[in-house]
Amino acid sequence: MSPERELIAVIGTGYVGLVTAAGFAELGSEVWCVDIDAAKVARLRRGEVPIYEPGLEELLAKHSERLHFSTELGDALEHARLLFVAVGTPPTYSGDADLSAVHAVVDAITASEGHALVMKSTVPCGTGAAIRRVFGEQGKGGLSYVSCPEFLKEGSAVRDFLHPDRVVVGDAGDWAGDAVVELYRPLLAETGMRAGGECLPASVETGMRAGGECLPASVEGEYLPASAAANGGGGGGALVRTDVASAEMVKLASNAFLATKISFINEIANVCEETGADVVEVARGMGLDERIGPKFLQAGIGFGGSCFPKDVNALKQLAGNSGYHFQLLTAVIEVNELQKRRVIGKLQKHLGSLVGRRIALLGLAFKPNTDDMREASSLVLAARLNADGATVSGYDPVAEEEARILLGGLQLADSPLEAVRGADAVVLVTEWPQCTGLDWREVAEAMRGTVVIDGRNALDSDAVRAAGLVYEGIGRG
Ligand code: UDX
Repeated sequence: MSPERELIAVIGTGYVGLVTAAGFAELGSEVWCVDIDAAKVARLRRGEVPIYEPGLEELLAKHSERLHFSTELGDALEHARLLFVAVGTPPTYSGDADLSAVHAVVDAITASEGHALVMKSTVPCGTGAAIRRVFGEQGKGGLSYVSCPEFLKEGSAVRDFLHPDRVVVGDAGDWAGDAVVELYRPLLAETGMRAGGECLPASVETGMRAGGECLPASVEGEYLPASAAANGGGGGGALVRTDVASAEMVKLASNAFLATKISFINEIANVCEETGADVVEVARGMGLDERIGPKFLQAGIGFGGSCFPKDVNALKQLAGNSGYHFQLLTAVIEVNELQKRRVIGKLQKHLGSLVGRRIALLGLAFKPNTDDMREASSLVLAARLNADGATVSGYDPVAEEEARILLGGLQLADSPLEAVRGADAVVLVTEWPQCTGLDWREVAEAMRGTVVIDGRNALDSDAVRAAGLVYEGIGRG
């Protein structure tokens, strides 16, 4: 291990916590990971990874010597001065974020002049200020606080961590913010990662308060082993060093904006269906405008996951709590809910009543390359179909275990072909390659009916039609 790299602690071993721990271990840090779930910690100690995330298992195994797992916060405090908090902040009934897990950490941390809480969990704007107030009230005013939101996407989280567009560090300008920037330095654009150790101008660092000094060329090999570069690390990220409240808002606003983009293109898709235009062509034409960009313009059956639905709601709620009615976000949420249900209308258009019909859902996770079922469109679809009297079968390459728990009325199949056997209609819910790359002649033979609803506009419509099936996408004329 590089002796210069700071030893850190990560509290919470979910998607964000484990990827953060593995990522910093890859950059050379020793990491203490703490979680209150003793069974999870025991599994992690045995080398088992409780979630599916491409590349994560390999990275955790590669750095098993640098990674320690514990249920005791005391272990983190003893070994590390920076405590990255990556605990869950699920929505409450009111739409506010539930910060009880965050406050459990805040209350448990002991008074110190030399420790800092670095917030990775997505929290409402104002949380940092509130926590610092609590620290003061509890006689722990010497503790530092940094907001360092995480922008990784599930399914490509390891790559996203090692290859960030930007790193946002919000702090009071003390040692803790500097230390967090140092940790991320190998991933930042200004770190002198060019061949020969040539240093980029300090001005590249957006709003950088401290230093701007160049690391010696020798750190490149040490901080970013060849394998890290292969994983996507390599120093391209911009640094946004700012105040705590702004850092908190960058995260919420980014997710809300991306969700808005998706609801926008979904509404365009719905208008395309009325006017004969093809939303895929429309998105292509729009995305070439640099001001718009091509990403997050894929129309479909709505966004899900652990972040967008929760964060859009939390920002709307946060605005409401401060007396501002965020009208746009209300529409973004409503459009998304309706979008999931529009598939039912499409099925009824082709099949009439759904009573006694057999519908196959291909893909159940909220997106490919994850086993995460949180707010997945499949949950709403399966429940609606069951309520309308249909029999629902489903297939997912990795989310099977979760789906079994959450989708009681669904018949889980071991393969896509088994799922579609005897089906009147097939709905592509998640664009797993195992589902998009099917031989549609085989599918046609296995099905009872002929309807294929492409909920992600990810199928080869010509191949589907050539197999004698009826193809319908989202917003495709
Ligand atoms: C998101 C943000 O992208 C990430 O920066 C943040 O840290 C966490 O939330 P994630 O939820 O992992 O990441 O997945 P993402 O790839 O953003 O997709 C979210 C949902 O939007 C999925 O259900 C996906 O299918 C849907 N989506 C995405 C669309 O419907 N259309 C698109 O064009 C893009």
